Amino acid sequence: MTATWWQRSTVYQIYPRSFNDSNGDGVGDIPGIIEKLDYLVDLGIDIIWLSPVYQSPNDDNGYDISDYYAIMSDFGTMEDMERLIAEAHKRNLALIMDLVINHTSDEHPWFREASTSRSNPYRDFYIWRSGDEGPPSDLRSVFSGSAWEYDAKTDAYYFHLFSRKQPDLNLHNQDVRQKIYEMMRYWLEKGINGFRMDVIDLIGKEVDRGIIANGPKLHEYLQEMNKEVLAPYRDAIMTVGETPSVDPEQAKLYTRPDRHELDMVFTFEHMSLDEVAGEGKWALKPLDLRDLKQVLSKWQTALHKEGWNSLYWNNHDQPRIVSRWGDDTVYRVKSAKMLATVLHLLQGTPYIYQGEEIGMTNTTFNNSEDFKDIEMINMYHERIEQGDDPADIMASIQAKGRDHARTPMQWNDGHEAGFTTGEPWMKVNPNYREINAEAAMRDPESIYHYYKQLIQLRKNYEIIVHGSYQLVDAEHAEVFAYVRTLGSEKLLVVANFYTGEPHFEWPEELRELTTDILISNYEDPPGGQKDIKLRPYEAVVYLLNPVTSQC
Ligand code: NOJ
Repeated sequence: MTATWWQRSTVYQIYPRSFNDSNGDGVGDIPGIIEKLDYLVDLGIDIIWLSPVYQSPNDDNGYDISDYYAIMSDFGTMEDMERLIAEAHKRNLALIMDLVINHTSDEHPWFREASTSRSNPYRDFYIWRSGDEGPPSDLRSVFSGSAWEYDAKTDAYYFHLFSRKQPDLNLHNQDVRQKIYEMMRYWLEKGINGFRMDVIDLIGKEVDRGIIANGPKLHEYLQEMNKEVLAPYRDAIMTVGETPSVDPEQAKLYTRPDRHELDMVFTFEHMSLDEVAGEGKWALKPLDLRDLKQVLSKWQTALHKEGWNSLYWNNHDQPRIVSRWGDDTVYRVKSAKMLATVLHLLQGTPYIYQGEEIGMTNTTFNNSEDFKDIEMINMYHERIEQGDDPADIMASIQAKGRDHARTPMQWNDGHEAGFTTGEPWMKVNPNYREINAEAAMRDPESIYHYYKQLIQLRKNYEIIVHGSYQLVDAEHAEVFAYVRTLGSEKLLVVANFYTGEPHFEWPEELRELTTDILISNYEDPPGGQKDIKLRPYEAVVYLLNPVTSQC
C-alpha cells in the first residue's frame, strides 16, 4: 500500500511570536526559527506549520492580516521568509503557512476602501447590512459581544465572527475569491508546501439565513480553489482545514480524495469533552475517559479509507495537554508520554505543538493584567460586567485560556529560558529551569526522546499508517486500549489515563499471538497476555504477529 507523503509525516506547529527571538526585542522571529531548524530535524518531524507571519496590527496575534504579501516587521522581512523556506527545504522539511481568508484585519486596504462609502467597489468584499433598530441579527462573535459592528460613516453594520478588527470577507463575491487565489499562487510560487486553512468551514456562511458553518456553497468553493490554485502543485503540497464544526460525515466531504478539496481536517469534538455540552468552552466539566474513547473511535472508524484526519492534543488555542488531561506535577513525564502514545498510534497525521515535545505545562494567571489574548480579555470583561464571580471566571481561564499555549518556548535554564536576550512579550513559565529543551535533549528518558521514537515508528510501520482500528473495552473508565490491524499483523495499545493501578484484560483472540513490545513509558512493561495490572499513566504498545512489514 502506498501512502501519500503527508500520511506518514509528523507536523510541528510554530507560533512565531513565542518560538525563538533572535534580536533581543522580546518577540520571536523568522531568523529565530531558522536557528532552530536543526532542533526540528533532530526531533524527526517532516513538516512545519507556521502560524501567521503576515503583516498585521496584531489584534489577534497575526490572525488579523492587513497585507497578505508582506511579513510582519516584528518577525523579519520577506528575505528572511525566503531564507526560511530555502533552509527548511535544505533539511528536507516541508513548510506550510496559515491561510486566513475568513476575515482580514480592518486595517487591510480592502476594508479601508470598503468603509469609505456604500458605493465603493470594495464594499461587497465584506458583509454589510443596515439596521435601523440595532444590529441586523443577534449572531454573536466568538470573542464575545455582537458579531455586528456599527460603522457611523456609512450608517451600516459589518459582520465579524471574531474581533471587530477582523471583518469577515464575503467569499460569495467572485472577485474576493480570485484575489485570494492570486495570493495563494504567490506563496506557492515561493515554494511553500501547502496551507493550514483557518476556520475554513465558515467561508460559505449565509448570515441572512443564520447559516455560519458548512454553508451550502462551501464545497463548491473548495473545489474551485483546487482547480484554480492547488491542482498543479498536488504532489508537492498538503492542505489541512481547521473545521471546528464538522462531524465525520462532513469530514468525508472535505477530505475524500476523489472530491479534490482538502487533504485532511482538524476535528474538534474531542476538544470539547471537558465542557458542559452546548455551553461553550468556558463551562467546565471533568473529562470522562469513556467519552474520549467513544469520540476518537468514531472518527477513526468513519474516516478509515474514506478521508483523513489530523491528530492533535495541542495547538495555540488550547491549554497544554499535560496539564489538561495528564498530571503536570509528579507524573508529568509519564503522563505526557502516555498521552503521546495514545495519539501517535492512531490513524491520521500527528501534529506537535511547540513545547509539547518537552512536556511544557500551563502557566498561572495571577490576575487579568497577565492576559495577552483577546479572547480571554474580552470574555473576562464581558462576564465582569454581567456580574459573574471573578473567581469563577479566573477558574475557567486557568483551565482553558489560550495564553497557556503562548508562553515562550523553553529552550534552556538561562535568561528567560533562552527565548530572548531581552524582555519577553509574555512571561516565561517559571518552571523553565526544570522543563527546557536542552535538559530534555540531554536526558535519554525524557519526553523529547520518547516523541522521537514515536515519530520514527510511524515511518517504519505500515500498520500505524494504514491499519484498521478497533476499540477494546469501551466501558473501562481508566484504560484506553485499541487494536490496529493490517493483514495478519496487529498492534495493541494499552494506556492507563490516571494514577490508579487498574487491571486490563487482553482480548481473547489476541492471547495466543507472538508479541513484541514496540514502545512503553515504563522500562519493564507487563508481559503475560491475559490480565495485566497497569501502573500510574502506564502506556504500552504491543506488536502481535509481527511480519516484516516495515516500510
Ligand atoms: C482560529 C485560530 O486558530 C485562532 O487562533 C484565531 O483566533 C481564529 N481562528 C480567528 O482567526
